[in-house]
Amino acid sequence: MTAQVAAVILAAGKGTRMKSAQPKVLHPLCGRPLVAWPLAAVRELGCQPAVLVVGHGAEAVRQATAGDGVRHVLQQPQLGTGHALLCAREALADFAGTVLLLAGDVPLLRAETLQRLAARHQQARAAATVLTMTPDNPFGYGRIVRDGGRIARIVEQKDATPAEAALNEVNTGVYAFDAGFVFAALERVGTANAQGEYYLTDVVELAVRSGEVVETVQLDDPEEALGVNDRRQLADLAGRQRRRINDALMLAGVTLIDPAACYIDAGVEIGVDSVIHPGVHLRGATRLGQGVTVEPGAIVTDCAIGDGCIIKAGSVLEQAEVGAGSQVGPMAHLRPGTVLAGDNRIGNFVETKKAVIGRGSKASHLTYLGDCELGSGVNIGCGTITCNYDGVNKHRTVIGAGVFIGSDVQLVAPVTVGDGALVAAGTTVTADVPADALAISRTPQKNIDGWVPRWRQKLKKK
Ligand code: UD1
Ligand code: MG
Repeated sequence: MTAQVAAVILAAGKGTRMKSAQPKVLHPLCGRPLVAWPLAAVRELGCQPAVLVVGHGAEAVRQATAGDGVRHVLQQPQLGTGHALLCAREALADFAGTVLLLAGDVPLLRAETLQRLAARHQQARAAATVLTMTPDNPFGYGRIVRDGGRIARIVEQKDATPAEAALNEVNTGVYAFDAGFVFAALERVGTANAQGEYYLTDVVELAVRSGEVVETVQLDDPEEALGVNDRRQLADLAGRQRRRINDALMLAGVTLIDPAACYIDAGVEIGVDSVIHPGVHLRGATRLGQGVTVEPGAIVTDCAIGDGCIIKAGSVLEQAEVGAGSQVGPMAHLRPGTVLAGDNRIGNFVETKKAVIGRGSKASHLTYLGDCELGSGVNIGCGTITCNYDGVNKHRTVIGAGVFIGSDVQLVAPVTVGDGALVAAGTTVTADVPADALAISRTPQKNIDGWVPRWRQKLKKK
């Protein structure tokens, strides 16, 4: 950017139509709070400072957007968009230059568009530059009134004459302002309008009347100015944002079998030749390597998945690391702290938690592995359970390399099984097993010949 640019994002409004206990701008859209989208756009542009005007739910909004150089200012009560920007004056006291203004509930605005707006504004040495668009239905928006081709003022829907209401070029609510001009002009804005509010839009007419340059920039893609007022629009805009995310992934070499049914958060990274099936959710800070397959219905949150892994249908993975070449599921549950070294098999109805599992080790069926460490090349039989909890404390199970655990084994922690040991099926392990030992705990079996028919006879007589 040629000169310094700051940004102000308005997010004090209540969002009444959301019918929610949560502030509107904190409702999630593709894995981020709504307000994080315009914040990301101004950050991409390098706007400094970025000021967020908060009001309704101020504390929650402040917390959700803390860090990354965001300055928060409080607007209380909310007296209109002009008043909202005026609340940012102190925070911009030592700033002279271009201020971009946008709304916290408009998530599809592209950084390139803001860049274009700021560039035009600065080239024209304008006091104000308005981003406009011409939608099929202009209802509800402020109308752009022109005089001899140049913008003269903006008239709100509720204040418009029938002739003005018939105009279809509208204000997107996104602007570039000269900081010195706009804060001085806002001092002169009154509330003599249908809503009794301080309208930010009134600064346009003030600028024109005092001979300042006011520019407009037309939005190419009207989708960018869409805002969220109710939950139908939230779902609609989330769908559009999802399409952008998914399009970018496909163009980067990822196969999405049915992109309309892949729910991938902003910021998720996926390597080339990965295949994502329908009904998959990839959330948060998830990273997938190359050639990963994620089958239908898997939900993966904050995970790192290595190259060539297969995450089978219906699996749920949270804060887990899955090393390259592993297969997980179907219907496995990898909980936080699970680390698979690589080439592992975690099969159906296996649950892991704080489980660090060595290379090539397998737990293929119906198992719980919690608070444990497994060496490489371990085989865990069907139905094995680490009994990690005594009702008060959690205890660790350590299993060495090359151990074979038979089916239906309980490991009562704390317990250690040495390298190369074998634990026989059905054993309840209550003491450490030395390396290379066999551990077996079973009541000896006895067979009683002819017992069943004799027993049935007895029952019939009764
Ligand atoms: C505003 C514009 C209108 C434009 C439309 C585009 C004015 C007077 N009108 O109208 O020309 O077509 O946006 O969407 O500006 N806010 C505050 N504090 C307030 C009032 C609003 O922070 O006191 C915030 C809201 O949370 C919202 C944004 O400002 O994020 C816009 O406010 P809103 O009431 O939706 O303005 P509109 O009536 O839609
Ligand atoms: Mg609005």
